[in-house]
Amino acid sequence: MDTLDKISRWLTSGATPEPKSPDLATHAKPLLASLMTMAWFVEARDPYTGGHLWRVSRYAHMLALEAGLSASEAAKISLGGFLHDIGKIGVPDAILRKPGRLTDEEFDVIRTHPDMGRRMLAGHPLSRLVQDAVHLHHERPDGQGYPQGLTGEQVPLMARMVGICDAFDAMTSHRPYRAGMAEEAALNIIQSGRGSQFDDHLTEHFLALGRKGLLEHVIGHSDDGIPLQTCPMCGPTLVVQRDRQPGHHIYCRNCSGEFKLMPAQKGLHAQPTGGMGRPKDLEPELDVQLIERTVAQAVEHLSAADLLATAALGHVPEGPR
Ligand SMILES: [Fe+2]
Ligand SMILES: [Fe+2]
Repeated sequence: MDTLDKISRWLTSGATPEPKSPDLATHAKPLLASLMTMAWFVEARDPYTGGHLWRVSRYAHMLALEAGLSASEAAKISLGGFLHDIGKIGVPDAILRKPGRLTDEEFDVIRTHPDMGRRMLAGHPLSRLVQDAVHLHHERPDGQGYPQGLTGEQVPLMARMVGICDAFDAMTSHRPYRAGMAEEAALNIIQSGRGSQFDDHLTEHFLALGRKGLLEHVIGHSDDGIPLQTCPMCGPTLVVQRDRQPGHHIYCRNCSGEFKLMPAQKGLHAQPTGGMGRPKDLEPELDVQLIERTVAQAVEHLSAADLLATAALGHVPEGPR
């Protein structure tokens, strides 16, 4: 069964379409899964960001609960964390996959992704659940963020939460031009941006997660208990999906290198075979199980009222055209 068959079988399982009386709550699962599938393929364009969406979603969920929000609000924020960078679909490969530091002009192109995401989701029946995260995760309390330069609590709560988690994950992840920072160093930077780049109170809650040791099992992982591996030939991340078995082959989508998964002390180790992947081998492989689990965990805590809410977690201003 190929990936598309798997997705369509899963998307239709449990959903009972009622053509005469469409019910948003009934269709929430496949609607969310389709958004997450899009976000997943957007992330797969960049060989260095494997697992970023999952990690931001996990951090955001923990931060929301630590800050005292309800299970349903935490579920929405977790979904916002997974979908926040969906607008990167509009950033050209030459910039998204550039191995070196970006020029100012290239960074201006990157800065278009939040509004691109807002426009992509406009009209989607569940867009209100996550639009704050998608559109406003690069805003800052001091007004130095983008795309709108909002200040303080003008930045919606979901966006402030996802913003901290996104920055923390960027700092603790490897990039082509630098190694990922240690947790403590990244938390010190979050602390130093408190009140300016990051929300004052939420910073305290995020630091508390670090003190409790709750961030460690997410840093450098692409799923619960599955550490990221790096391609020894060219450096980007190799994501090993949960259902992979010893002997399975995986491929680096940057240099096409082939790896065989071997049993290791912790999970599986990707060992180079010296071979190269064919175009078919290098297709991004959607992690259907991870998306299924993430959606199921979120939907479990969302009521029909949540799904139909007109303003999920605060006001979202209209973006620039
Ligand atoms: Fe972003
Ligand atoms: Fe991001």
